[in-house]
Amino acid sequence: MVKKMLIPVLALGLTACGAGTGKNLDNQGLPIKNSEPPTQTNGVTLANLQQHIFGAICTNCHSGSNAPRGLRLDSEENSYAFLVSRAADEAPELMRVNPGNPDASYIIRKLEGASGIVGGRMPLGGPYLSQTQINTVRDWIANGAPRTGTGTGITKVSQIKSEKVEGEISASLHFSRALETDSVTEKNINLSYTAADTNTPVAINKFNLLVLDQSLEIVVPQTIPNATAITITLKSPNETPILDTEQHAITGNSDHNEGGEYRYEHQL
Ligand code: HEC
Repeated sequence: MVKKMLIPVLALGLTACGAGTGKNLDNQGLPIKNSEPPTQTNGVTLANLQQHIFGAICTNCHSGSNAPRGLRLDSEENSYAFLVSRAADEAPELMRVNPGNPDASYIIRKLEGASGIVGGRMPLGGPYLSQTQINTVRDWIANGAPRTGTGTGITKVSQIKSEKVEGEISASLHFSRALETDSVTEKNINLSYTAADTNTPVAINKFNLLVLDQSLEIVVPQTIPNATAITITLKSPNETPILDTEQHAITGNSDHNEGGEYRYEHQL
């Protein structure tokens, strides 16, 4: 079972107070930081993926010694051995699972039907996995693709999407573990957009945040019809870090340390 933390939905208005009070703060009002190495319990395990995805769906084909591309997903041991840090047959420059890096893992490209894959989207012939199911595989990889347990990798963004519908911009950031709702405020996030004609980033000062379990939704409540790209900067400074539910500061995709500042640029 995926351990789901039930976190109340909290919509943060522009007037929301930044640091918050009470829980998880020390006597100076600063978030309590744990100096011990992370021991995460909140996150997806290989056992869980084996039960719900690899064993339940993929083994219709990926079983036994004649498994397609030699990829056997018919036991937890085989899934680990044939996936993690193993070069893909169809794209040997990529690993099937690149620990810590879902976007560079061939399995994710095959599951999402990304452009550039050889052969078909998986499961071949469909029905395809939902983005929610694919995100569980992304999360496991983002957390370091641990053989057992939920991994000691630092919680990070494991998927990001943004779109513009009728001029209104929204973005959705999926994290590899659940977030501590109160730790995310508008102070942790900078937004700007670029318009085709200027190329100079323009700050977006008004936006709404919604933190729900493992996702952070950003909605810009105004229409910006000429925006062609959005830049999201996640800031997790020591004083007001974005925390996961185990009180560890999150990190970005390319860095293995807690905290810091991360930029994501997306074409709309
Ligand atoms: C209906 C049969 C079938 C199912 C079900 C299926 N696959 Fe495949 N898979 C194939 C075939 C055939 C290939 C090789 C041809 C191709 O890529 O289109 C393949 C290739 C792959 C590859 C490329 C391996 C490499 O090293 O090049 C990956 C990764 C993969 N499958 C993952 C999965 C996963 C994960 C699932 C379950 C979610 C799945 N497949 C379900 C038939 C299937």
